[in-house]
Order: sequence, then C-alpha cells, then structure tokens
Amino acid sequence: MATANGWRIGSSTHAGHTLPVLLPAEMLRHNLLAVARTGKGKSTLFLHLAQAILSETSGNHGLFVMEPHRELVEALTELIPPARKDDVVLLDVADVAYPPGINPLDATLG
Ligand SMILES: Nc1ncnc2c1ncn2[C@@H]1O[C@H](COP(=O)(O)OP(=O)(O)OP(=O)(O)O)[C@@H](O)[C@H]1O
Ligand SMILES: [Mg+2]
Repeated sequence: MATANGWRIGSSTHAGHTLPVLLPAEMLRHNLLAVARTGKGKSTLFLHLAQAILSETSGNHGLFVMEPHRELVEALTELIPPARKDDVVLLDVADVAYPPGINPLDATLG
C-alpha cells in the first residue's frame, strides 16, 4: 500500500505497540535480497513489492524475479497488465521440452 513515506509492507507489533513497516519508494529501484527460514514470508513480501512496482504510475520499470518454487512466478504472471504482456520473458530451466540456451561467453548484449 502506498503512503506518503513509502510502501507499507506490513506492521510490527512489539511490547504492546503496533507500528507500520515502510519501504521507501526509491528502494523499489534497487536489488533486494530476502533471507529467512522456510515459510517465513519471503515470496509473499516479493509479491507485494512486485505489485507496488507494477502499480507505479510511470509504469515502465523493469522487474527481474528468480525463484525456485514456481508459485511466486505464477502469481506474478497473473498481475501483468495486458499492455505489458508482450514484455514478459519467462525462462523455466526445469522445462526439458524447451530448455533455454544461455551462453555465458556472449557479451554482445552488454
Ligand atoms: N506477513 C504475513 N503475515 C501472515 N502470514 C503471512 C505473511 N507473509 C506470508 N504469510 C503466509 O505464510 C506462508 C508462507 O509464506 P511464503 O510462501 O511467502 O514464505 P516463503 O518464505 O517464501 O517460503 P519458502 O521458504 O518455502 O519459499 C503463506 O501461507 C503466506 O500466506
Ligand atoms: Mg518462497
């Protein structure tokens, strides 16, 4: 949820007080790494962050997501606005029928 001070990504309750947890809007344009135990909400956090990026009014930011379980990518594909569908590149390295080729020595694209 957007607020004047950034994106609200949750709330923190401690010692009887509940405070909003905000992520400054400019943080959405930096690389983020979430480290936590299994099932602690990493994918949910990144889904909310991706929703925030996709809903930005300027609307033309890129988003790169890599995840091992599929659920996050499948949830994200549901959120792609129709106007951006042709911009989506989905690489499924587990799909043996259509394995993507990656040439680490090819520097022609920078
Ligand atoms: N802030 C939250 N408050 C309450 N429940 C949450 C919150 N974030 C995530 N959950 C719930 O916790 C469960 C695990 O969330 P999620 O799949 O995002 O975790 P994860 O860290 O990505 O797990 P994994 O390590 O298996 O990838 C889900 O059922 C999700 O709905
Ligand atoms: Mg996950």
